[in-house]
Amino acid sequence: MYILAIDTSCDDTSASVSYGDCILSNVVSSQVSMHQTWGGVVPFLAKRMHQEMIDKIIALACKRAGVSLNKLDCIAVTYGPGLAIALEVGIKKAKELCLTYQKPLIPVNHMEGHIYSVFAKNSKCKGQSICEFPFLALLISGGHTELVLVENHGKYKILGKTLDDAIGECFDKIARALNLGYPGGPVIEKIASRGNENAYFLPIPMANKNDLNFSYSGIKTATLKLILETLGPNVSEYVKKVYASLPKNVSNKNFENRLSRSKAIADIAASFQKVCVDQLILKVSKAIDLLSEVLDQKVKYLVIAGGVARNVYLKNRFRKEFRNVIKIKVPPNKKLYTDNAGMIAVAAYFKALNKFVLNDKNDILALDRVPRLSLSN
Ligand code: KG4
Ligand code: ZN
Repeated sequence: MYILAIDTSCDDTSASVSYGDCILSNVVSSQVSMHQTWGGVVPFLAKRMHQEMIDKIIALACKRAGVSLNKLDCIAVTYGPGLAIALEVGIKKAKELCLTYQKPLIPVNHMEGHIYSVFAKNSKCKGQSICEFPFLALLISGGHTELVLVENHGKYKILGKTLDDAIGECFDKIARALNLGYPGGPVIEKIASRGNENAYFLPIPMANKNDLNFSYSGIKTATLKLILETLGPNVSEYVKKVYASLPKNVSNKNFENRLSRSKAIADIAASFQKVCVDQLILKVSKAIDLLSEVLDQKVKYLVIAGGVARNVYLKNRFRKEFRNVIKIKVPPNKKLYTDNAGMIAVAAYFKALNKFVLNDKNDILALDRVPRLSLSN
């Protein structure tokens, strides 16, 4: 089954062609450099960029896969959650293609895509297969922090979610305060690797609460306070210069010798990153304990997906913490972590197998974006 999938949920225009769950092409046009100027995503600019790019990206995805539009079996599109005016661009295009080429439409929840990203196979159809149900999924991205029990295909129970900021958003805001650019996750991780994660104590919010929800705004405020107290208000320009002047692959020693102030920045980044991960680990272990009490069998697998899951420190901490407790599954390549249409194609394939497909013209035309779409809808 050949599937064309489209995702325009936020600031990446993406199209992918798959053969079942095997990804033949996965093209992503990132708008990061444009939004960088503003320190975050500007919706109307995102929409305009999607409109400019979508045809080219679809054509490229088909070309790379060697599959023409009329050879497709169905078209899949993200219909939520995401930015309304950005989602609309992908949905409009998908409808247009369905009607022109008389193909069925598969609407996909973007978060479902992140879960299924882990099971994407490559163009030679090599990769890991679906975990035994039920399994846990920790979805960590710029817009979401969710812990989900995946009971079966299309059957989800949200066990916990953030009550305020998403974890990726928090990384982005701290990086912005330090004037390190956007997106913040990768640069914070890089700087943190040279710091001491125990240099500053930042408490886990609601650590004693028994629920499985997350909170990141308190961590953000405490870290901003720490930045001001330690580095003063003029930190931003300074940090940028120090960082830009660093040679690539600089050793810890060289870095520390340069300036003690840059050491403080690395320590703050490391302490901040540590508490962000501490909270995830705390909630996941609570969930595992709770589920083993409630369910007869133990949950054997934990999927970790979304942009923030690219963080190597985070993955190492999880692997160490849960070594003999639960098997950890992450996406098979870098592109599948952040927003991409390949993960939407894989989710769509399992929806097609389970007959979640729109065949009727009127049903296709009626599909609307749902910016706040939840997995438990
Ligand atoms: O999944 P994604 O592409 O977009 C959303 O659906 O939100 O995730 C983007 C987020 C950004 O906040 C970015 O800072 C974060 O993922 N991110 C990271 C890393 N790489 C990307 N956060 C921490 N460490 C990283 N290495
Ligand atoms: Zn995403």
